[in-house]
Amino acid sequence: MDKELLKSTAQKIVAPGKGVLALDKSLPSANKTLEELGIEATEENRRRYRELFIGTKGIGKYLNGIILFDESFRQKDSVGTPFVEIIKDEGILVGIKVDKGTVPIPETEGEKFAMGLDNLDARLKEYFDGGANFAKWRSVFPIGKDIPSRVAIEINADSLALYASLCQQTNIVPVVEPEVLYDGDHTIEESFEATLHVLKGVFNKLSAYKVDLDCLVLKTSMVLPGKLSNQKVSDKAIAQATIECLKEVVPPEVAGVLFLSGGQMPSDATKHLNEIAKLEPLPWEVAFSFERAIEDPALQIWRGKDENVKKARVVFEETLKNNVAADAGEYKN
Ligand code: G3H
Repeated sequence: MDKELLKSTAQKIVAPGKGVLALDKSLPSANKTLEELGIEATEENRRRYRELFIGTKGIGKYLNGIILFDESFRQKDSVGTPFVEIIKDEGILVGIKVDKGTVPIPETEGEKFAMGLDNLDARLKEYFDGGANFAKWRSVFPIGKDIPSRVAIEINADSLALYASLCQQTNIVPVVEPEVLYDGDHTIEESFEATLHVLKGVFNKLSAYKVDLDCLVLKTSMVLPGKLSNQKVSDKAIAQATIECLKEVVPPEVAGVLFLSGGQMPSDATKHLNEIAKLEPLPWEVAFSFERAIEDPALQIWRGKDENVKKARVVFEETLKNNVAADAGEYKN
């Protein structure tokens, strides 16, 4: 394990003034996105969808990292240049999603377990040799009556910690993503409690597995009232709740904190990030690592048509600029 390499990679992922694009939809999610846009779900169309983003010139100005999925890690653009090479040429770090999606935990109220530990050491080695600098593992936690349960937190936290430890042994920085879901009608107070419990469980296990926190990045959800809740909460209050919760449980040694958008309206995710940034200085670097909140506006323009690529890329770049501004607390909407 090369601690200096890991530490400098972790710092680069969250270096100020840029963020991380999560371009790592699993096959079923990528297919669903294409089908919702009326595009046939084929490998070639998934490749075109990724090229729309990766092939945008100059995105190294806004991005420290792009997270890929196994299929896209091996794909090339339309003239045959590997995506990994294009990303590196922009000076952007390459990330790879390594969990294999979630399955229900039997006898629970809709709770889930993220799969993917089998063969993980060999897969990580192959990704490192292929150019990956960091990896991501996402576990999900719905909020409901008596959930997240102790069982769901324990089993997912164990996996996240073992994954993080295996990553570091392979000189890949782990991006540990316990996502508390925004679906549902819960209040912001319930979201705060759930996020706190989940993060406590995760950091206990990271410590038990002796994971180096300064060589690790946390990717987390914001503390929000549920999508179906009628509770009205200001952007500032969301930022304050999020940071209060994180400060209670995320050790200052952690290299940085990335935020996912979690299905919020893209503009809401950006506004919330902007309010979070206004609370700086914080114990850790913070930045965005959105997927839907960055991709969706451009995908709505693209809709699978080559003649729309140019316009969609302009919107993509605009969205990146807005989030970079928000990351500095300077977004004006
Ligand atoms: O796993 C989810 C991604 O890392 C973030 O996606 O911003 O659409 O929630 P999102």
